[in-house]
Amino acid sequence: MKKLEIKTPITIYDSVSELPDDVKVLMDEAVKIRKSAYAPYSKFHVGAALLLENGEVITGNNQENAAYPSGMCAERVAVWQAGSRFPNVKIKNIAITASSKENPVTKPVAPCGACRQSLSEYEVKQEEDIAIYFMGETGQIIKTDSLHDLLPLAFDKSFL
Ligand code: THU
Repeated sequence: MKKLEIKTPITIYDSVSELPDDVKVLMDEAVKIRKSAYAPYSKFHVGAALLLENGEVITGNNQENAAYPSGMCAERVAVWQAGSRFPNVKIKNIAITASSKENPVTKPVAPCGACRQSLSEYEVKQEEDIAIYFMGETGQIIKTDSLHDLLPLAFDKSFL
């Protein structure tokens, strides 16, 4: 028997103004698209923006449904759009932001487990890390260098 430890390195930025310039632009796009989320039930608005290696920015926001499980998260709306429109173009960075009509969202909102799994598929596919930057409405931003860091011991094609 042996015990191992898996570490998750993170970088914390105090505000958007500290981000690298290209990520600042990406976070601005995520904020913009967050504002048109369709979230009448949770009133929790999420925006995601992906920077592709060809310079394209793909955005998405959460789309809810009266039949709750039929709704979809912002990250998957965005990543599936990238996968369908640019199937052979690598994803470099993802910026995520969330706000709520009920409470101020002051801490960084991490992607849910299902979104991590979906995003991880593309990192494995492209054989190159995807950096993830996530924040609330304002305030600190957390960055992980890869999906692998956010979802260690992931299920992937190697098991099939
Ligand atoms: N949501 C996202 O869009 N992304 C996440 O990673 C977590 C949750 C959405 C789904 C739902 O519309 C609302 O936030 C509340 O869960």
